[in-house]
Amino acid sequence: MRHIPLAIILFAGAGLSGCGGDDPAARGEAIVIANCSACHATGASGDSPRAGAPPFRELAQHYPLVYLEEALAEGIMTGHNEMPQFVFDPDEIADVIAYLASIQVGTPAPAAP
Ligand code: HEC
Repeated sequence: MRHIPLAIILFAGAGLSGCGGDDPAARGEAIVIANCSACHATGASGDSPRAGAPPFRELAQHYPLVYLEEALAEGIMTGHNEMPQFVFDPDEIADVIAYLASIQVGTPAPAAP
């Protein structure tokens, strides 16, 4: 028989979109811990392991977090020569932004006009 086991295909597809749970910020936290925490402070407190790497909780003081969406999608990051190129898909980027938004401290920078 050459019937494709459709149920298995559907199940695999559902597994892809459902991985990591329902909470975008929790998924984003896992992404930045895995990829960024070697150099950046990724949490609500603590110093960055790499001198000069800004703690993530302070990023919004410098520019609106949405500006990072484009940078993450295109793999460009100003002054990031030492950093490996990361390629994130749009879902992952949304998760990372959601997580970053949840930990910001201080006064957010205004959006450019
Ligand atoms: C190998 C070390 C390293 C890793 C890993 C790393 N960074 Fe960085 N990052 C730096 C350093 C160093 C700077 C400061 C560069 C500078 O200002 O010249 C920086 C700066 C930044 C900035 C500020 C850029 C700006 O122009 O203000 C952002 C945003 C950033 N990193 C995001 C990330 C994200 C997101 C990850 C994980 C996906 C990550 N970094 C992983 C070293 C790293």
